[in-house]
Parts: sequence; C-alpha cells; structure tokens
Amino acid sequence: MKKASISSISEKSFGKTSSGQNVSLFTLKNENGAMATITNYGGTVVSLLMPDRHGKFSDLVLGLRTLREYEEKSPYFGCLVGRFGNRIAKGAFKLGGKNYQLPANNGPNSLHGGKGFDKVVWRAVPSVAKLGPSLRLTYTSRDGEEGYPGTLQVTATYTLTNRNELKLVYRAKTDKTTIVNLTHHSYFNLAGHGHGEILDHVVTLHAGKFTPVNKNLIPTGKISSVKGTPFDLLKPTAIGTHIDEDAAQLKFAGGYDHNWVADKPVGQLGLIAKFEEPKSGRIMEVFSTEPGFQFYTGNFLDGSLRGKAGKIYHRRSGFCVEPQHFPDSPNHKNFPSTRLRPGEVYKNTIIYRFLKGK
Ligand code: GLA
Repeated sequence: MKKASISSISEKSFGKTSSGQNVSLFTLKNENGAMATITNYGGTVVSLLMPDRHGKFSDLVLGLRTLREYEEKSPYFGCLVGRFGNRIAKGAFKLGGKNYQLPANNGPNSLHGGKGFDKVVWRAVPSVAKLGPSLRLTYTSRDGEEGYPGTLQVTATYTLTNRNELKLVYRAKTDKTTIVNLTHHSYFNLAGHGHGEILDHVVTLHAGKFTPVNKNLIPTGKISSVKGTPFDLLKPTAIGTHIDEDAAQLKFAGGYDHNWVADKPVGQLGLIAKFEEPKSGRIMEVFSTEPGFQFYTGNFLDGSLRGKAGKIYHRRSGFCVEPQHFPDSPNHKNFPSTRLRPGEVYKNTIIYRFLKGK
C-alpha cells in the first residue's frame, strides 16, 4: 500500500458527562490515511473512515453527534460491551453455589451488562505503536457493580493498524470468581453510514452451527446445524436473501440477531466473517479468538435516531458482528464457560480488517 502520511493520534475534548466527568475524543490516523475517532466514554468508536475501490474514504460506522446523545439514546453504537455481552435470562445465574441477581434492562432479562462498560468513563493512554496509532483504555469495575461479583480490572487496547485494521485486544483480571464476556458493538454499513439498508452486502459466516433462541432471544440451549436454514451463510450470500423468510427464529428477532458458533478453534485468532459491499467494493473481514459471535442486522433501528451529519438511521441500516461467548452462557453447562477465577487472565482479540475489492 502507498503511504499517504505518518500515523498519529491526537486528543480533544468531547465534553463532560451529566455527572461532570471530562471525556475526550481521540483521532487515530494510519499511514494510508484511514482514520478512526474513539471516545473514552464507553470505549466508543464514533467514526471509522476507510477507502472504497477508488480510494474514496467514507465513514463506515453509525454514530451520534454529542456525548449527551451517547449517554441518553445510543443503541450501543460502537461501544465496548461488558461485563457480559448479550442476554442473561432473568438476570439470574449461579456461580460457586451462590445465586446472583442482575437488574433487568431488557424485558425480564439483563442485556449487555446493564448500566455497563458502555456507560462509564475509561482512563485513556494514547500512543503510536509499530502497528499504528493506539489507545489503551483501562477501567476497574468494583465488586458488586451492576450485580456482578469481584473487582474486575479491564484493559482494552484499540489500534488502527497500518494494514487498515481496527484491532481490539481485551484483558481482564478479577479478585473473586466472576463471569466475563466482553465485545465490541459497532454498526457497520460498508457503503457509508446513512447510505440505506445493508441487505445488499454479501456475507460469508465461517460457522456451521448456531444457538437457536426462544421468543425473548434467550438461547434454548441447543447447538444446531445451519444446514437447510436461513442461518446457512457459509457461502457468500446477500444479507437480504433469506432475512424475511417465514422461519420462527427470524420472526423472534425481526431478522438476524443470533449467536453463531465459530468453526475455528476456540482461543485461536481466526476468520469468522466476511462482508462485501458491491457498489463501493469495500470488504470487511472479522477475526476473533472467541467461541461465537452475534450477527445482528439492526432490526431494532426504526428511523427515529438522527446520527452524525444529520443522517437518519432506518431499520437494518447497519449490522453488528459481536465476537463473544454464547449469550446466557452461565445458565448452560454445554456452552463454553465464561467463568474467570482469581489468578487467571481473560483474553479476547477482535480484528475488523478492511480491504478493497475489484
Ligand atoms: C445485540 C442484541 C440485540 C440488540 C442489540 C442492540 O445485538 O442481541 O438484540 O439488543 O444488541 O440493540
């Protein structure tokens, strides 16, 4: 790739939270001119500019204009999700013989850690690493915060690499046995945010199994083959091809909002998904170390949100790939464990890699 400039990271104010904490907005630029803005409020990616097949840059993530809007009405745009990504049925789980109860924030269930890591201010240290500009975020979640046991020390390092990747590396440690399931929640539209529905994007998911859900989007506990279902996206398929088929699983969620089981070995970084937007020629590949990932097609967006540059975000105008452990894992013995004990290190790496197609 031709080098456009040297990589850099700069910081400016993003205002104060409603409780008076100062928040920054960091601008990361890599050697190719790709750019990301990231705030330490919720570890949120506010914008991400990548080139199309002709080298024209567009902002590929949905986002809001102000800190206040992120505090008050963000549907998890671009944020760091924790302590526990996705749903825990009735907010209840058992750990070490003890029952825990989390506050419900999604019908009867707990979603995305309650008033979670997306709603706190992280300590931020910017640097320019060999790979590219980098932002190291740290947060200590106190014992009992949002109902979870153990003081959890979390580090999340975001790097905009010189290979046009957004690389996210998470680490966590606890002082009491707890559960952890962190992920990233950007809504992508490879044509550019605010450029209509994502149904023409061609998706490939490297996952032959998924975890079916009940009507509250809680996994039933089954691990099913995608064969013969609208969830078979093993070969390149336009997102819109099967999304409105008459299938109970799709009806529950109003489209795709399910956890797929990654084919690659657990703990190893491997390709889990690929997206190609035919008009712009932009391609995004997703790599992860996690056992699964939620693929969500923005079914709950309804056109009521005005985002960056005054864009209206209609239903299915963005999609999320949230690499993680399976939803409601603490209540399913057959799912990979999300338990973290003192002395252990939680590790999770996600890479969103952007390429130009023909
Ligand atoms: C996840 C959930 C969805 C929805 C979005 C945010 O993808 O599974 O149901 O909550 O986050 O709106």
